[in-house]
Amino acid sequence: MKERGFNTTAIHEGHEDFCPDAMSTPIYQTVAYPYTDAKEAAAIFTGEKPGFTYGRWDNPTVQVFEKRMAALERTEAALATSSGMAAILTLSHHLLKAGDEFVSSNRVYGGTFGLFDQGLRVMGVKVNWVTTPESLDAWEAAITPSTKFLFVESPSNPGLFIGDLPALSALAKKHGIPLIADNTICTPALQLPATLGATLIVHSTTKYICGNASSLGGIICGPREVVEGIRQGCMRYLGPSISPFNAWLNLNGLETLSLRMERHCSNTMALARFLEKHPLISAVNYPGLESNVFHAVGKKQMTGFSSLMSFDIKGTYDDAVKIIDSLELMIHATHLGTAKTIVTHPASTTHSAMGEEEMKKAGISPAMIRISVGIEDEADIIADIEQALGKVDG
Ligand SMILES: Cc1ncc(COP(=O)(O)O)c(C=O)c1O
Repeated sequence: MKERGFNTTAIHEGHEDFCPDAMSTPIYQTVAYPYTDAKEAAAIFTGEKPGFTYGRWDNPTVQVFEKRMAALERTEAALATSSGMAAILTLSHHLLKAGDEFVSSNRVYGGTFGLFDQGLRVMGVKVNWVTTPESLDAWEAAITPSTKFLFVESPSNPGLFIGDLPALSALAKKHGIPLIADNTICTPALQLPATLGATLIVHSTTKYICGNASSLGGIICGPREVVEGIRQGCMRYLGPSISPFNAWLNLNGLETLSLRMERHCSNTMALARFLEKHPLISAVNYPGLESNVFHAVGKKQMTGFSSLMSFDIKGTYDDAVKIIDSLELMIHATHLGTAKTIVTHPASTTHSAMGEEEMKKAGISPAMIRISVGIEDEADIIADIEQALGKVDG
């Protein structure tokens, strides 16, 4: 059959070979799968015969989600995990051992920063942070003979840094190591890191892929050898498994992903244009704006700019908090990527554990407000921020 388009794949992949007689993919709420005899058990366990063994590393519902994500990300295979952090931890655990190093942009989600800075350090692994990640020379200077991979979150949360994925992939290849890209903010509907040279892709599917704040999930997409190596290896002894129910919720989210992303992008563009002209705002971080420093690189590798944006106000922490507390439609929460518009104060919540100095280096100030623009009516979103900004004197 002719290769299918993105939307058809997002709706059908993995389901029809597996359960063509059910419209919605069944939730296999089971931990184990009876074998016919001991020989079969041994053959399935070693992978000689296809089949399911134990829910910590395989489950039919989860497998449909994995097949669909691999197809969408254009990678050979995928492995679902309980959360985005579980995906990053599991992949790091697979690729690193004590004494190894890796290089990462410092423009990452606060949890990722904590994992790299604290969690992996206690395992004897060292992160070399790139604090000017727009400079390819800075990435290269951070690579040592012990470097096992490069990690980039693009676009980044909350500053919307965009890494030049083809250039970073070429750099990684030159040094014989993989580039790992966190594609949470774009999703495969807007960016395909594998086609730009990245070897491995991670996601918090908790965000846009699920799309309605109902379930946690994560995924690792990449070459079959790596993905299945993790499944047969640390997935078994670490156990960061996604539940069949959460995999099902994430799978359902995929069916409407690309339609939602279109509305997310257009609403965010309209809000960014409004904020850019507002006298109380000193900087809008949204790469969709032509004036944004990452617009050109983003345009080359993304088909849309997604809906995470942040802005700095000409004011103090107290002013930022007053604006957030005055919003009536937007939900104040530490989440992003849902149908509902969400406002967050990164410096005091999602990124607070980084500490003041590291936040400063990553461009996160107490006057920064982050918005994950939802898919409500554009005019209502703009009206809400307009009235909230009006509560603070210019
Ligand atoms: C870009 C990015 N990657 C990873 C994560 C972690 O995902 P999860 O909350 O599903 O563990 C987040 C969470 O906000 C994120 O924004």
